[in-house]
Amino acid sequence: MTAPTANTTTTSTAAHRFARAAGAVPLLGHVPALFRNPLPFLRSLAEQGELVELRLGPQRAVMVCTPELFHHVLTDTRHFDKGGPLFDKLRWFLGDGLGSTSRDVHRRQRRQLQPAFRPEAFDRYLPVMLEEIHATAGGWRDGRVIEVEEYAYQLIARIITRTMFSADGPSAAVARIAAVYPDFHQGIGRQMRSPFRWLDRVPTRANRRFRHACRTVSAEVAGAIEERRGGGRTGDGGVQDLLALMIGEGLTDREMRDQVVTMLTGGIGTSASALGWALHFLSRDEELADAVAREARAVLPARQRPDGTPAEVTLADVKRLDLARRVVAETLRFYPSAWFYSRTVTATVALAGVQLRPGTAVLLSPYLLHHRPDHYPDPERFDVDRWSPARQAEHPRQAYVPFGTGSRQCIGDVYSLTELTLAVAVITSRWRLEPPPGPLPAHLVEPRPWTVIHPAPLRLRLHSRP
Ligand code: HEM
Repeated sequence: MTAPTANTTTTSTAAHRFARAAGAVPLLGHVPALFRNPLPFLRSLAEQGELVELRLGPQRAVMVCTPELFHHVLTDTRHFDKGGPLFDKLRWFLGDGLGSTSRDVHRRQRRQLQPAFRPEAFDRYLPVMLEEIHATAGGWRDGRVIEVEEYAYQLIARIITRTMFSADGPSAAVARIAAVYPDFHQGIGRQMRSPFRWLDRVPTRANRRFRHACRTVSAEVAGAIEERRGGGRTGDGGVQDLLALMIGEGLTDREMRDQVVTMLTGGIGTSASALGWALHFLSRDEELADAVAREARAVLPARQRPDGTPAEVTLADVKRLDLARRVVAETLRFYPSAWFYSRTVTATVALAGVQLRPGTAVLLSPYLLHHRPDHYPDPERFDVDRWSPARQAEHPRQAYVPFGTGSRQCIGDVYSLTELTLAVAVITSRWRLEPPPGPLPAHLVEPRPWTVIHPAPLRLRLHSRP
């Protein structure tokens, strides 16, 4: 399927006037374009107008295509709230977690959970992050070809469960959650794009696997909460972990379950896919990878203390990993994990001169904004220099939104930037990763935009650095 290029038309009624996106087919509207080849389709929308109408089966929605409108929708909480077709598909599983509650409840929940993301908490998180990253990189063998995303999922899942829920090391529960995560993410991604709800209930193999994955995640989370209520660990180093915070705030089991599932859903696939892509880009640029390795060795303390325990690292050290940070920033520009989401209009509002009625679905895509050639020259080029101090001013701040903006901006933004920068630095300082020889051209790593944009398959050969 090629990206639609035909001219757009404009619809105009007393209440609506937008460019209507090219490429709709009878009955399904733009679903085939979004389902089969979403990334080129999204890129093509930027040329079609500031506000473009899409049809998703029977539903209509508007896509905002400029940084200004994107910012407006996410910060004007009087007229826009969580909702819309993509959100509705996730709601049944996420329940009333931080990412899904409406604005009234949201403020209270955010206040309750924020302490787990304050800078002081990183004193406890950083040693865990470093230990887990070294454990992953230390388990690899020279010359082997690995499926990178598998390791990235396991690593990120272990870090989040140990830091947020004080799980002891790589537990069986963590392994079980990590094992079903690919089915979980694929299933959610399929549901988000499917035009008819009944399709999600057909007992296909994929739908059955998805249901099984959802049951597994829910059961594991319920088990962890029960254990904690029974007097399990509450967090190390004097910093309460997320479960302890929630118990302290008097949350019910159901409320805690929704928050934990939200954190796992929001925090694992996003960071794991970003790590996979960062390692992919580094595997294609040996010079850049060598420079990242040199920087990591200069900045990070020696890997281990004489007694074999991992050395300490501080937030100040992570800040000095400038090149690794730029690799992460450019990775999240190129493939922002949260590439597509939605809002709903709650009160009549004018957007780009167009009146939107309550209930109108508004679509948002960081991917679309990050690939606008007017803000990112040569947008299909991976270029870490975009993030050098000299060039950072080239693009407007509002045009870079991997973590969203406004009151619903990702609560885990600093957390994930920290773990990703550290992971990129440490892994690259220990290993040179390169595409294995084989029938596939080296550049062919297909982006699979499900809930997040996966690099699949991503097989890389390991070469130990001396
Ligand atoms: C590369 C990694 C990540 C990316 C790209 C990312 C992206 C995002 C984006 C775009 C939003 C806003 C969605 C919206 O406005 O509808 C969001 C919200 C959220 N994220 Fe992240 N995220 C990442 C990592 C994490 C991590 C590590 C956690 C938890 C530890 C997390 C937890 C959440 C939660 C709970 C929300 C809802 C916040 C609220 O509504 O107040 N995310 N994330």
